[in-house]
Amino acid sequence: MRSLRNNEEGWFPNWLCFSLKPDVIIGNNYLWRWWILPRNPFFNIYLHKIMRSDDSRALHDHPWGNLSIILKGTYREVTLVDRNWLIQHSFDQDTFGEEETVQLSRFAGEWVFRHARTPHRLVVSPGAPVWSLFVTGPRYRAWGFHLRDRWVHWRQYVAEYGDGHSEASTSTEPDCL
Ligand SMILES: [Fe+2]
Repeated sequence: MRSLRNNEEGWFPNWLCFSLKPDVIIGNNYLWRWWILPRNPFFNIYLHKIMRSDDSRALHDHPWGNLSIILKGTYREVTLVDRNWLIQHSFDQDTFGEEETVQLSRFAGEWVFRHARTPHRLVVSPGAPVWSLFVTGPRYRAWGFHLRDRWVHWRQYVAEYGDGHSEASTSTEPDCL
């Protein structure tokens, strides 16, 4: 019998893993997306199964403010913070490759709010997909990638560098629980 199960990674309903095909499949086993609400320009809720890390070549941002609610699994989020944030949170700056880049662990049950312009990327361990609810507000800007010296619209970035999701998958087939 399939039921809610509690394990150390959080609560997750087993039936979600098996009963519905994704509404959108992005990349080669990169991200599966289900629409929880009918898509609209103002407010959307998606269920995400994140199987692979974001493009590691650059941080990206989004066209809307957004909220991630981690349901199952753990990922690391690379983002930029200012020096005051580092000091307040007692981070040792020597542990970072770049002065203001920080890598934060996100766990099941955590809510992560982001501004649309927040540069970030997610790092997922191979074979350990992460399930999350992803809530977005109204679209109000173009999104893109943050290169070392400039911001690049995503269309231009993909045209110049590719989408970063073309390599072979490291994930297995659905391995929900
Ligand atoms: Fe993102």
